[in-house]
Amino acid sequence: MTLTLKAMTLAFVSTFAISAFASTAPVYITIGTDAVHSQEHSFGPGLLEVERYNGVSIVEIDEESLPWLSEHMHENFNRCGGYVLHESLNEAQEALNEIDGLHVLAKRSKLLDYSINSQDLVKPLINQISGERIFSDIIKLSSYKTRHYRSPEGVEAAKWIKSNWERIAASRSDIHVELYNHPKWEQPSVIATIEGESDEIVIVGGHLDSIAGFWGGGSAKAPGADDNASGIATITEVLKVLIDNSYRPQKTIQFIGYAAEEAGLLGSKEIAAEYKKQGKNVVGVMQLDMTGFKGTKDLDIVMMRDYTNDTQNQFIGALIDTYLPEIKWGYDKCGYACSDHASWHGQGFAASMPFEAKKNDMSPHIHSGRDTVESIGNNANHAQKFAKMALAYIVELDR
Ligand code: BES
Ligand code: ZN
Repeated sequence: MTLTLKAMTLAFVSTFAISAFASTAPVYITIGTDAVHSQEHSFGPGLLEVERYNGVSIVEIDEESLPWLSEHMHENFNRCGGYVLHESLNEAQEALNEIDGLHVLAKRSKLLDYSINSQDLVKPLINQISGERIFSDIIKLSSYKTRHYRSPEGVEAAKWIKSNWERIAASRSDIHVELYNHPKWEQPSVIATIEGESDEIVIVGGHLDSIAGFWGGGSAKAPGADDNASGIATITEVLKVLIDNSYRPQKTIQFIGYAAEEAGLLGSKEIAAEYKKQGKNVVGVMQLDMTGFKGTKDLDIVMMRDYTNDTQNQFIGALIDTYLPEIKWGYDKCGYACSDHASWHGQGFAASMPFEAKKNDMSPHIHSGRDTVESIGNNANHAQKFAKMALAYIVELDR
């Protein structure tokens, strides 16, 4: 029992480095996570978020900064005080335990290390993301008449993605690309795996099929440039930059193009259920479905709150703030299981869905013959932001 307690205490210190450690003796407070991670208001010097649960964060703070904090909370959050001071880290953790009873200890011990600590590695990689390459893959994928899951072209497109990923990974024997066949329809999913040292798996995926027309059949023209050639092309660029830089991960990284999403998340449902059944240790999933159309004026990336993991969403937001400060991000909801992230979420894995716009502002052309490269502005300027974010996500979760 003492051993487990010690192990858990260690696991708890999942450090979200906000800024440097305080120089004088630190004290511990609990405070709303929103206040720690508010985008509008910078959280000031001498603070370190050491743990969080259910919207409450434990923050280590220089005692001398407390008056400043009170002022900040009052001014920016209209909260008097707005935090609770604790005698020790232990006592602060006790306070977190009380949020929803005894079970919380077990849940919190599973917290991942969401610290952001690989800037030297991530920054040069981000700079290599090419919008031109993303755009050329969107052109190629949207040139199939359709990628419908029951059409021959939809099978061809999946095979092209496999061969494209194989070409990119040709120099690496630790990378393999496979078709994942589904028994009930012809179109396969495609999985590229960069083998890591541990059993942990990080997945970045998007659906490879498209759909259009009143009946949603295989004969209508369905270029699906935004939905979702953009997501597949974004993922492909991340894979390319990792390989160009001979990136060798600790965790296993998988890139997945899912079949038959438009028919009801069919491909991803099978894959997520299979991974669960096999006990695969998937530590994080990012879904990229529609990255091409910039529809919301004051936001670039919109994190869907439903069917996703809130802690991971906040981590991705912190990654954007750290590495891509020019990118504005926010939250919205799909309102239903709108894409493959929901399949992973349904099996209990941490999934996120960073999306091209607020739901009301997304491309009005999807699921029609008008979802073309022209409709996303004839470039991948928007999509490349998602590639940079996904790259930071993979490397920071890996390290
Ligand atoms: N790309 C859309 C997902 C989407 C739609 C995201 C709206 C955000 C807002 C996806 O390919 C899709 O069309 N999903 C279906 C549902 C699915 C279960 C068939 C949809 O939204 O109707
Ligand atoms: Zn889609």
